[in-house]
Amino acid sequence: MDIFDTAHLYDGLQVMEREQAPLGREERLKAMEKPLLAWYGSRARSLPWRDDPKPYRVWISEIMLQQTRVEAVKPYFERFMKAFPEVRDLAGAEDDYLMKMWEGLGYYNRARNLKAAARMVMEEYGGCLPASFEELIKLPGIGSYTAGAIASIAFGIPMPAVDGNVLRVISRVLGDRGDIRKASVKAGMEQELKAVMPSGDASRYNQGLIEIGALVCIPGGEPRCGECPLASVCLTRRNGWWKEIPYKSPNKARKIEERTVFIIEYQDKVAIHKRPMNGLLAGLYEFPNACGHPDADEIPAVLGMNPGCIKAVTPLPAAKHVFSHVEWHMTGYRVVVDEAAADPVFPGGREEGKGVADEAAAGDWFFVSREQLASSYAIPNAFQAYTALVG
Ligand code: ADE
Repeated sequence: MDIFDTAHLYDGLQVMEREQAPLGREERLKAMEKPLLAWYGSRARSLPWRDDPKPYRVWISEIMLQQTRVEAVKPYFERFMKAFPEVRDLAGAEDDYLMKMWEGLGYYNRARNLKAAARMVMEEYGGCLPASFEELIKLPGIGSYTAGAIASIAFGIPMPAVDGNVLRVISRVLGDRGDIRKASVKAGMEQELKAVMPSGDASRYNQGLIEIGALVCIPGGEPRCGECPLASVCLTRRNGWWKEIPYKSPNKARKIEERTVFIIEYQDKVAIHKRPMNGLLAGLYEFPNACGHPDADEIPAVLGMNPGCIKAVTPLPAAKHVFSHVEWHMTGYRVVVDEAAADPVFPGGREEGKGVADEAAAGDWFFVSREQLASSYAIPNAFQAYTALVG
């Protein structure tokens, strides 16, 4: 026996199946409960939102965890909690500051939805998140996963919380080849789990499944079946199907956008621009940028800038950022300008209406110090390769 194979430790805790009498789906799911809870009791990580599972903390952590790994979330979570300790603080947050406190996490609409939901919680529930799955799911940005996670973890309500981790674990246990990208597959799994989950232990049950998905039945690699409490009930382990299950239909091809990013410097300042209030990265700040990849001698025309204002131009490295539906393939230039270009009224010495790129023309760019940039303006991760070069 493999000395690291701990699955046998849980064998005594669950229904053992014989080849002649394979378990049905419901029985197989029911057989997970005891070993899952025993394993979670001994292996659960100590996490800030787990050790102090107030509804507000669980909510914020779950939204952050939708896009980022646990270890990476911890510092963002602590920073956010310090900035907005209570629902009331989030409801009254100033938008640029909220974006700054979300900076680095991406998916900025999630932060906007948090604020919108916090306002509803203030107005309709006196500042306390409702202890009801049906009420939680009505709040902006809260879908069935997050409502189930808050309901179960913060309030002990027996509702499932099926995220990507849980879809993977349950598909594997059941040997189910349904396409996990399909809403119907997720909805079916929610129903089946709701029917079997323990009514008095919903928090540990859901977190146990999430934890197995994160630590044992890992994404994108060989599952650590030797450490898995569900190994003896898992059809995928028994049949060696882990490369095929879960099945996920291929991504649609993303649109590729070629862009050029300009780090325009005047003395110790750098130019930034506020993006329009709708569309991708709405209302966030960015370095001026334009479609395509102009040559250096085209820069004055692209920036709508008198060539005499430009003191130096240096090419910057290429970078790529992948959004869910679009990829930006970027190149860049550092453009050092003189005081005529740094005019606060018409930056770049431009005539009004002759903007940088169309999207930049939605509101002119302006110069800020590096300290102001660091403290007050959220520049999305898409620009990270260039933000790092501002120094
Ligand atoms: N991923 C999503 N939700 C989580 C949670 N509550 N704990 C750990 N990882 C998670």
